[in-house]
Amino acid sequence: MSDPGPHKAGGLLKGRLGEAVDGALARASVSVGYDCRLARHDLAGSRAHARMLAKAGLVSGEELAAIESGLDVLARDVDAGRMVWDEALEDVHMNLEKALTDLIGPAGAKLHTARSRNDQVALDERLFLIEASGRVGALLRDLRAALVERASGAGAAPMPGYTHLQRAQPILLAHHLLAYFQMLSRDQQRLADLGPRLAVMPLGSGALAGTGLPILPLEVASELGLSPLAQNSLDAVASRDHLMEFLSFGAILMVHLSRLAEDIVLWCSSEFGFASLPDSLSTTSSMMPQKKNPDGAELMRGKAGRAIGNLVSLLATVKGLPMSYNRDLQEDKEPLFDTVETLELVLPLAAQMVRGLVFDLERLRAAADDPYVAATDLADHLVLKGLPFRQAHAAVGALVARAMARGVPLRDIGAESLREFCPQADPDVLGALDLDSLLAARSSTPGGTAPASVGRQLEEAKRALEIEAAAADLPGKPGA
Ligand code: ARG
Repeated sequence: MSDPGPHKAGGLLKGRLGEAVDGALARASVSVGYDCRLARHDLAGSRAHARMLAKAGLVSGEELAAIESGLDVLARDVDAGRMVWDEALEDVHMNLEKALTDLIGPAGAKLHTARSRNDQVALDERLFLIEASGRVGALLRDLRAALVERASGAGAAPMPGYTHLQRAQPILLAHHLLAYFQMLSRDQQRLADLGPRLAVMPLGSGALAGTGLPILPLEVASELGLSPLAQNSLDAVASRDHLMEFLSFGAILMVHLSRLAEDIVLWCSSEFGFASLPDSLSTTSSMMPQKKNPDGAELMRGKAGRAIGNLVSLLATVKGLPMSYNRDLQEDKEPLFDTVETLELVLPLAAQMVRGLVFDLERLRAAADDPYVAATDLADHLVLKGLPFRQAHAAVGALVARAMARGVPLRDIGAESLREFCPQADPDVLGALDLDSLLAARSSTPGGTAPASVGRQLEEAKRALEIEAAAADLPGKPGA
């Protein structure tokens, strides 16, 4: 970044003002330090705009050739990280326009014909986000594939299922992993749903009201792969709800990942001991040499806060803005970039952790085989014998209390106590309440934990991934 000098900004734009913006306003105006990330998209938009201007007769063939060759040079400089951004020129748009004019002379000054930075930035952000959504969508799909791989590998291995973080009923490990697959599949769907609302073409809206110059906005749209044209030019420059949707998708996804992270942290604790992470995915303590910490999971959980903050930040920025564009909207970019960056960092980390987790299947099975975990099943047995569920619940509750008082598992409470508390029960029912029977019994709900149901859930998950992968391979369909 070049030195802005004595805090001057807006160097190219004098308009009716007698002097350049300076001091604190100049410093507050500068956005090129972050909006330079839009440079490639700004250049792509400018190229399409220039071609349209030539078709519309607003620039000559020679001028277009000069503009295009200048834009080529700038694109190479941007790609090579050679661009020198000047804070005195405020933002990426003015920097690129000035650089073009320096390169090619007067033709460069025609590029802004029938265009305002207001519709220009709206276009750049859309192009940026379409591309970023493709990358994020592909990373998300890979994480979902990792969950399916692990669920597939887990077979019918049991684990305790929890509510209130208390052991509740046994479930399959695959069932637990596929719950995350479902959560993340809805996130993927949310991202894909946003696609058509992103692909709207704002250029031609000018500062707010459109233009009287004979432009051909459909040409620009089709060159950039956008459709349809914005239906209202004020809305096109003033609205950011497509960004809010993305940030909302990002916040929800990060909240889901933070829950997965919390499970991993718990599983890797000595208290649970259900899983461990390979050393390459763990850290140690600067003081306690024996420590192996799941920092990756903690960071994944911690970074959810940023994603939530980014959504709230944009909502607060846009709230109460009068129609149409207001400079407040410049504040939309950092939250957007930060959420994209966070997702691109965290999604591969999550996939690596899911693939790297080493489960202690014996310990999971032993924990699933909790001495009292069959209580619901015994109550269900009484229901099948005609007892109203509430009475069955009470009877089994009393029986469990007795077993606990005697320090024996429910299945060892003995025929006498069973008869006393649950006279309707088959005398041999306790023997039938072994772990595998409990699991297999939960077959009436398609989403339940019976191995056959989980097997079907797994097949459907695999099929969904295959269908999505085939669709993502189609031309013009980025990963989202
Ligand atoms: N840097 C500005 C932004 O991000 C570009 C639009 C500026 N428009 C204006 N009328 N000052 O919003």
